Amino acid sequence: MKVSKFAKKIAIASGIGQLMDDLGNALVESQDMLMLGGGNPAHIPRVQQYFRNSMLRLLEDNGGFERVIGNYGPPQGNKEFITAISTLLQNEFGWDVKPENIALTTGSQSAFFILFNIFAGTFKDGVHKKILLPLAPEYIGYCDVGLADDLFVACKPQIKHIDEHIFKYYVDFDQISITDEIGAICVSRPTNPTGNVLTDSEIEKISALARANNIPLIVDNAYGTPFPNIIFTEAKSIWNKHTIVCMSLSKLGLPAARTGIVIANEDVIAMVSRVNAVISLAPGSIGAAIATNLVRSGDILRLSRDVIKPFYQTKAADTVEQLCKELDGIDFHIHKPEGTFFLWLWFPGLPITNAKLYQRLKKRRVLVVPGHYFFPGLKQRWKHKNECIRVNYSPDKETVTKGIKIIADEVKQAYDAA
Ligand SMILES: Cc1ncc(COP(=O)(O)O)c(C=O)c1O
Repeated sequence: MKVSKFAKKIAIASGIGQLMDDLGNALVESQDMLMLGGGNPAHIPRVQQYFRNSMLRLLEDNGGFERVIGNYGPPQGNKEFITAISTLLQNEFGWDVKPENIALTTGSQSAFFILFNIFAGTFKDGVHKKILLPLAPEYIGYCDVGLADDLFVACKPQIKHIDEHIFKYYVDFDQISITDEIGAICVSRPTNPTGNVLTDSEIEKISALARANNIPLIVDNAYGTPFPNIIFTEAKSIWNKHTIVCMSLSKLGLPAARTGIVIANEDVIAMVSRVNAVISLAPGSIGAAIATNLVRSGDILRLSRDVIKPFYQTKAADTVEQLCKELDGIDFHIHKPEGTFFLWLWFPGLPITNAKLYQRLKKRRVLVVPGHYFFPGLKQRWKHKNECIRVNYSPDKETVTKGIKIIADEVKQAYDAA
């Protein structure tokens, strides 16, 4: 079967696709697998109760359920939900966001597919533009979304050690140059995989660079404020006409609802809506239907602040404590957990690659994600890429505790054998 370049690029050989298959298959093949690998959020009973109640209200509402499932929404997404989100953002942040500034997408993953291909790729004058990622490691899901090849350029970070075992990445502004080939800048904040939160000063500087070069800054806020608020440091959220903020209902606990939220100027929203129409007619509206009342009542803010954030923050602290105990005696570093539900572990001088470590852990029924996948656009050879792994600490305590024990044991064995 002969297939197009598009198929070769995206439908056949995607790195993330292979990894996701691998993680998914491993889980199906073996129910006793300790899943510290994927990006699934925790099932938090108090939060799930809200979703359940919301669904029950919808079912009991005379004709409400039938309207939700029986009608296509508009390509921009469900109007009531969009209006509720714009009011929430005006009240919460004072942003001048109107419904015309918001579009829904089928998960925020598809928003990145749309936005990156709008702002990068081949332009009319033949110029090939790229998305600049000012700080790699960055989110694995960006890697393969480009319809054109070679869509990213990324910069190595500065590394600062906070104490013996905790470090933090900072943007190295000396490495950033915004040439004509840069079509947009993108950062995830908090960052998947590291849990880093770019400081307000870093964001202001990046935003100023975007404005000065008349290109958009895309802020991936999948874990940020005001929901799901899995962020453990103070961080100011920004939005203006040259900033595109992408949000999601997934990490709140609704990944299956596939609801992404793009906040941008009217021109960008009009384009995103048109692409929605072409790709899927309209984004699904079940997520919007479940969440609209939570947004209107402000419950989404209270849940995020009082339940979701403390839940993950406690788990992060417990997991770091266990790691420090189990890994005692070897040279390990953990990125300062400032948000998300991942810990990023760095083993300088690890005698095996992180890919090999991943395989060995898989044999022992523990799944993590090897760190080298998280450097889209960073072509330089850098040992660090093969010395890190990402651990999702959102599963139940028993799973995390067992998994961490095995990770520590396997890493120690690798050092001992060297
Ligand atoms: C940083 C980041 N951005 C975006 C996404 C995509 O999420 P969704 O498509 O479920 O909204 C994820 C999912 O893991 C993520 O970690």
